[in-house]
Amino acid sequence: MTVPLRRSRGGRATVETCFSRRSTPRPGGRRGPVPGHIAVILDGNRRWAKAAARESAWGYMQGGDRALQFLNWCDAAGIDVVTLYAVSLDNLRREDDSVIASLRAVAETLQQLARQPRWRIRLIGRIELLDTQIVEELREAVDLTAAVSGPTVNIALAYSGREEILQALRELLSTPGGITQAQAGLTQDMLARHLYTAGLPDPDLIIRTSGEQRLSDFMTWQSTYSELYFCDTGWPGFDERHFAQALDHFASCCRRYGQ
Ligand code: IPE
Ligand code: MG
Repeated sequence: MTVPLRRSRGGRATVETCFSRRSTPRPGGRRGPVPGHIAVILDGNRRWAKAAARESAWGYMQGGDRALQFLNWCDAAGIDVVTLYAVSLDNLRREDDSVIASLRAVAETLQQLARQPRWRIRLIGRIELLDTQIVEELREAVDLTAAVSGPTVNIALAYSGREEILQALRELLSTPGGITQAQAGLTQDMLARHLYTAGLPDPDLIIRTSGEQRLSDFMTWQSTYSELYFCDTGWPGFDERHFAQALDHFASCCRRYGQ
């Protein structure tokens, strides 16, 4: 059986091993491979607020400010793609007002980010399920950065990895000739072309804050070979030292892709 070689970001076929890593100097002078795509589960904002005896809305605003700083660190480190998981599809079932508070914080944060403008902003998830006024604000920020040629940030809202796979399959099957094509032999590449992340590399590193060690329906398809980094602080407390630790963790990983 012939197994296709993994495609590197440049489209070149490679088998990346511990002995052939991309070695780029990182801030602080350290060397080692740098993730091309970092995905983050921005967890623990409400608990952060609770510990400070503040409202959830305050925790989300702090988290938004942190996300702006985080993107600056990523930019300085040469990261090409960042995905930030802010609201899950399951979060929409929360009975308190935390979802609307977090969406407001996301909208304000994206407006600030769009003013720079350095990052190209994309929204991923079931955006159509969100409050229309907020969606309008979010789309404004996206449109302002549509022509930016810098790095890409995906903002995952009302996101579910399983739903993403289902919608990709529905989309694939509804394209002209899609069913016949799928019957003739459905491949991973065919499906991946219909994911929200089509054309982007899979996350090399996934970070989750707040001490929880699970993926919670995030990047279900794309996380197959992601390295995972968990840290105990709530998202608003994730500082530059945590960032450096996450990059060090990644640099120490031996990525063999099953080889
Ligand atoms: C964030 O959890 C949910 C996601 C990252 C999808 P919250 O920050 O809303 O709050 P707690 O502190 O975990 O409850
Ligand atoms: Mg949480």
